[in-house]
Amino acid sequence: MVSKNHKIFLAGHKGHLGSAIFKKLKKAGFKNILTIDKSKLNLLNQEKVFKFLKKNKPKVVIVAAARVGGIHANNTQRAKFIYENLTIQNNIIHGSYLSEIKNLIFFGSSCIYPKNISKPITEKMLLTGKLEYTNEPYAIAKIAGVKLCENYNLQYKTNYKCLMPCNSYGPNDNYDNKNSHFIAALIKKIYLAKKYKKKQIEIWGTGKPKREIIFVDDIADACIYFMNRKTKKTLINIGTGKDLSIESYAKYLIKFFNLNLKIKKNLNMPDGIKRKLLNVNLANSLGWKAKTSLKDGITITLKDLNKKNFF
Ligand SMILES: NC(=O)c1ccc[n+]([C@@H]2O[C@H](COP(=O)([O-])OP(=O)(O)OC[C@H]3O[C@@H](n4cnc5c(N)ncnc54)[C@H](OP(=O)(O)O)[C@@H]3O)[C@@H](O)[C@H]2O)c1
Repeated sequence: MVSKNHKIFLAGHKGHLGSAIFKKLKKAGFKNILTIDKSKLNLLNQEKVFKFLKKNKPKVVIVAAARVGGIHANNTQRAKFIYENLTIQNNIIHGSYLSEIKNLIFFGSSCIYPKNISKPITEKMLLTGKLEYTNEPYAIAKIAGVKLCENYNLQYKTNYKCLMPCNSYGPNDNYDNKNSHFIAALIKKIYLAKKYKKKQIEIWGTGKPKREIIFVDDIADACIYFMNRKTKKTLINIGTGKDLSIESYAKYLIKFFNLNLKIKKNLNMPDGIKRKLLNVNLANSLGWKAKTSLKDGITITLKDLNKKNFF
């Protein structure tokens, strides 16, 4: 059991997920959260990471640091995505083992699963088929991270867990035109349509593919929940267990913004995978469930956007 006074090292505390975990840990009363800026500790530097972990010897390590991006970045910076993710996770996971740190949470994403499998996706479907080409380097690195944790648990009796979330949204998301996930892109389009009084928005493809999304604070909640538990399984899916079509999300957001926008479908653009839904029975059976409704999640996301006056 992790007590409120134990030292917790959170890698990637300034990121979309890392900042949500930092807030949740604080709110839950954890007093000893260790963070360090990239300028002081580049996680690609093995020697420095090993020294840092040895010197600080936290009770728990949370790996929310990674090279992350949308399809475009994944596809065009393929070498960077595989090298940096493998290196960051190897340094932190092996460094934790060397410093006899028994508890670690590693994050990946649902793209570790093969593209042509039945839905909802269970943890057992890992490595049962071909990956999506565009994010194969990222997925391969994340799969290696899962296998690293799994095999350290088997050989060294560590308690290293891998949480695999579906698409997330929420504060500190990436809204870059080339790098964002579909839901951030949709929120941005409708936000800008309201700001500039536009009459329509464009979505890529038919709008029919179905996607599952989760509010980032719910992933942070899962992190704290599983950090405090010993589980037999290393790999755990984190999602809501529900999905909607991209067009339905667009309609929902348009209504939410109280707008009367037309949705133009750009049929020259591909649809991508028809459905991406995680089976979250394992997480649920271990006592964890996503709690935030879409309405509440979007409300908080928009407050954050308004505060930052982003676009
Ligand atoms: N399936 C999903 O949609 C989903 C959702 C949420 C999270 N996740 C997983 O959660 C993790 C974090 O994702 P995110 O969305 O929070 O990404 P993010 O916003 O890009 O944050 C990543 C963090 O890692 C830091 N970092 C990257 N390279 C580093 C290095 N060499 N040394 C030190 N720090 C470094 C970044 O710092 P700088 O900005 O200074 O580079 C940033 O703070 C990823 O593993 C991701 O797969 C997945």
